[in-house]
Amino acid sequence: MSRRTTLFACSACGHESPKWHGRCPCCGEWNTLVEEIRPARSGGVGGRRSARAVRPVPLADVEAPRVERLRTGIGELDRVLGGGLVPGSLVLIGGSPGIGKSTLTSGALGKLAASGRSVLYVSGEESAAQVKLRAERLGAAALSVPIVAETDLETVLATIAGERPDACVVDSVQVLYDPALSGSPGSVGQVREVAGRLMRVAKERGVAVILVGHVTKEGAIAGPRVLEHLVDCVLSFEGERERTYRTLRALKNRFGSTSEVGVFEMHERGLVEVADASARFVTEATRAPGSVVLCAMEGSRPLLVEVQALVAPSELVPPRRVANGVDRNRLALVLAVLARHGGVSLGASDVFVSVAGGVRVDEPGADLAIALALASAAKGVALGGETPLAAFGELGLTGELRHVGHADRRIAEAAKFGLRSVVHPDERTRTLRQALRSLVGGIGARAA
Ligand code: TYD
Ligand code: MG
Repeated sequence: MSRRTTLFACSACGHESPKWHGRCPCCGEWNTLVEEIRPARSGGVGGRRSARAVRPVPLADVEAPRVERLRTGIGELDRVLGGGLVPGSLVLIGGSPGIGKSTLTSGALGKLAASGRSVLYVSGEESAAQVKLRAERLGAAALSVPIVAETDLETVLATIAGERPDACVVDSVQVLYDPALSGSPGSVGQVREVAGRLMRVAKERGVAVILVGHVTKEGAIAGPRVLEHLVDCVLSFEGERERTYRTLRALKNRFGSTSEVGVFEMHERGLVEVADASARFVTEATRAPGSVVLCAMEGSRPLLVEVQALVAPSELVPPRRVANGVDRNRLALVLAVLARHGGVSLGASDVFVSVAGGVRVDEPGADLAIALALASAAKGVALGGETPLAAFGELGLTGELRHVGHADRRIAEAAKFGLRSVVHPDERTRTLRQALRSLVGGIGARAA
């Protein structure tokens, strides 16, 4: 009898089951289980193989060699990585089509090559000629990167093992496939196998591997979650395609913080780092009613971004709530607190909130700026004076303003760009009502 097992694996979460289910018993998604055939393994768990116990070692005595990181020379990328690529590690970079994943990774390899590192670009999606066209736009460094256009996993592995580059990009992990496995490229089994085998080569040969990954409509990296568990670092490249700004953030990082964000801008000649993003966003701020500058923290870096709000009478029940760049639930909370504790009730209005530049802010410190922008839009009163008004602080459910981290750095960043009025939680401003009263005299003065 041939020793093969048939398994059903969930393409959303990677859960395996011997039986097919219409709905994954693990993650609850519908129609995600796909059949996989595997050669059966022998030996294994349960004490069938006699195993030798090992002696645990105190962590203090563990030898951890200091590895030198590969600096890509793209400052924003290096910072998000935690100081550069770690040799032997696997980095997954996800993002929607056309966002600039190939541009960023080929640019990084180009810079590494220019600094004397050996590199390799594996393109499974585009032909070598297509990649060349892009590289021509990016300049001489990008053109010096050696490329193989290949989708067969074994060939790719053998090439990496033979070339032993310092850094290698695989674009994309979903198109490589192992013909020995059943599923088509991009299926659970394939993606897991591809990533697992690449990881082994990376570790054995000390190659820093960057995997480019596709993103599904919902924004998750296509393929099983196991991919994210396997790699050392998951980066997400975001932004709206029509806008030029792109943000790079770490969702997982075994070698650094996950709160760093890199800002880029897409030009005709590739991605340009926006090292001073605050300057951009502040000069672009409109100062019209509905506009407030938020002093945000993106990881270790303060960032000033303009929050805009529009409030208009609604024909709809329930009215529209549209949030761009801020979480919908945060917006709902801010609207509720505004109505209950700020005397600004928007139950009969359509409400639009957006962070200018296509940036996403994901921190409670954005609450106050959103609330002020909404109040300002609702009353048609512009805030601030000669310079735009800046704000930060979290809203509590009872209408109080709560402190958020790095107040001094946020204020300093605002000062750096000439923003003199910054509303934030302090002795004088303890509640949303006080903040509103001091700004748009009258708003919130009504209710007790
Ligand atoms: P690309 O890096 O191929 O995106 P991804 O690999 O994430 O799918 O390119 C993104 C877009 O950027 C593409 O539509 C063309 C555009 N682009 C520029 O505007 N300038 C450039 O210099 C390059 C290389 C691309
Ligand atoms: Mg691409």
